[in-house]
Order: sequence, then C-alpha cells, then structure tokens
Amino acid sequence: MRDFWYPAMRSNEITGKRLATAMLLEVPLVLGRTTDGVAFAMRDSCPHRGIPLSYGRFDGRGIECSYHGWKFDACSGRCLEVPSLTNQDKLKVDRIFAGHYRCEEHDGYVWVYMNAPGGREPETVPAAPKLVTFSEKYKITHLSCDLPSHVDQGIIGLMDPAHGPFVHQSWFWRSKHSIHEKQKQFEPIPSGFRMSPHSPSSNSWPYQLLKKRTGQPVTTTIDFVLPNRRLEEIRSGNLWFTSQTTVTPVRRDLCRIDFVAAWNLFFLPVWLFRIFGSTFLRQDQETMIQQAEGLKHDPHLMLIDDADRPAKWYFALKANLLESRRTGAPMSHPMSGPVKLHWRS
Ligand code: FES
Ligand SMILES: [Fe+2]
Repeated sequence: MRDFWYPAMRSNEITGKRLATAMLLEVPLVLGRTTDGVAFAMRDSCPHRGIPLSYGRFDGRGIECSYHGWKFDACSGRCLEVPSLTNQDKLKVDRIFAGHYRCEEHDGYVWVYMNAPGGREPETVPAAPKLVTFSEKYKITHLSCDLPSHVDQGIIGLMDPAHGPFVHQSWFWRSKHSIHEKQKQFEPIPSGFRMSPHSPSSNSWPYQLLKKRTGQPVTTTIDFVLPNRRLEEIRSGNLWFTSQTTVTPVRRDLCRIDFVAAWNLFFLPVWLFRIFGSTFLRQDQETMIQQAEGLKHDPHLMLIDDADRPAKWYFALKANLLESRRTGAPMSHPMSGPVKLHWRS
C-alpha cells in the first residue's frame, strides 16, 4: 500500500558518508546522511541510464553517479551537474530529478514515505509513526527478522491469537496444555481496530510479577492500524511497557518484522528482554519459513471465526481504503461497533 510511512532501516546504519541500500515495496532505495545529519532516501537508480546511484560517490551533500558523473542533491533529488554539457547545450539541468522520498527518523528507524509510483512528492504528509512512552527515563530495544512471505501473511500472522500455544511453547511463557477459552472485546478505531483495555491472561508470569510490584491492576491495549502496525501498551500504576511491531513489504515474496519496545520496568534488563523477544520472533520466523514452503503450491486457504476475525478485518480495511482512494468517498469501516470474540488459546 502506497502513501504510507515504512521503516527502511535502523538509523545507526547510515553514518558518515556511507551510502546504504534498502528495498521497500519493490522499490530499490539508496539512503544516507548529509553532513548536517539529515537522513535522505532516493530511488537507487540514476535517471540517465538507471545504474544504481549507490555505486556513486557521496560528498555529504550530493551523489555523483558512477557512470557519467551526473550529480544529484541528496535532499531533493534535483540534478546539480551534467559534466558532459558544453555551453552550446540547452538542457535545463535543474529540471532533471532523481527519484526522491521523504525521510524522518524516530525511535532509531529511518522512516520513508512511499508515495505512489511516478507521482510527485506530496506537499504535506502525516508525521511518521512514533512509539508512545509515558515517562522521561526508559529502556528501549529493537529486534527484527525477515520473513519469506507476502506482507499479508506476515500481518495476519502478527494478529493471529490461535498460534500462540503451538508456535510459542516455551518453559518461560506457557505450554500447549495451558490452552483455555478467552473472550476479548474489540472496537473500531480509525484505519484499524483495538483490543479494548483488558487484564492480560493470568497464565503468564511476567504479568503476575508486574501486578505484585505495583499492587495495581495490569491493563493491556493492543491496536492494529493500516498499513502494517501493531501497537501494544501495558500499564500498571506508574509502570509501563509499550511496543510497536511493523511488517514491511520488501518484495512480494519477502517482508520484514521490525519490533521496538520501551519500558520503565526497572527489574527488566534489556538483555533479558532480548532473549525472550528474539526467541518469540525466531519461532514466528521458523513457522513462516515452513508456511512459505506450502504457499508455493498456491493452496486454497481458510479464515475461520472467531480466531481469524482480525485477519478478516485487516483484509476488509485494506480493500475499503483502496476503494475510498479510488472513488474519493470516505473510507467505510468493516466494524460497525464493539465486538466480542471468543477463541481458545
Ligand atoms: S547513468 Fe548516471 S550519469 Fe549516466
Ligand atoms: Fe507469534
């Protein structure tokens, strides 16, 4: 889905005059940082003959193409120089542009606004997504992994409540035998849906620990918003934990999960959290690798109620958004109000 922000890479991957490459929605990008520290993203393709600009030279302000030396301003994509021109040439150099995308940095990511192909860079765009935090001091950590799947499979895997007891069996979290019936309330929010604030399942010890520490109830809220963001907020007294997970389409057969979490739970060190978090991600990744094996043969698939209802909402939200963009009519929401879903997990 175009006209959204996507995380292209971590901020610390572009330092000095290094050019880095990334791919978003099958668009090759070259990213870097000017001498003023401003991150930029250009299409990794010279408008002259298409050679990747990432092979060129970057002087902290502009990129010089490696083929014929055309030079482009990194922050606007505007051509600054065509070395082969003589004073008899009439070519207007400053009317030539390399593909260029808006960039913002938040929470350790370089976000790139992927506007429609061939479209001009929009005048105004919404701000790039930001992780919510509730105190001045907190810990923050990032995890990521590649999935050999279409972004839709990555996203519905992310919101799927029924795989937990089978994929995420761990001594430290839960076993297959802890499966029990749950009911959760969901409500519509703009471009997405929310699992209404609730007390998290009692069978997970981290929540028990949190409750013991504060003596206050623990509440969790989980949102999904288009195109690809899952936001989780856990609060108890003045202790909090928030996370953002995005599934970013790289190619039609490859997507990437980027996970960032922040918390002020002093008893939870970053290293410990990373052990748990990366175990979870690896379990999901292994499952998606196996699933991709099956999906190669184009099987007929099913979405069942209620466990797959969030996946149905996702597909409906996406279709409704594309339809409203096509017609210019306001986007309709697949949920008419709060809904209670039941499943065993
Ligand atoms: S291909 Fe880049 S300057 Fe010719
Ligand atoms: Fe999972």
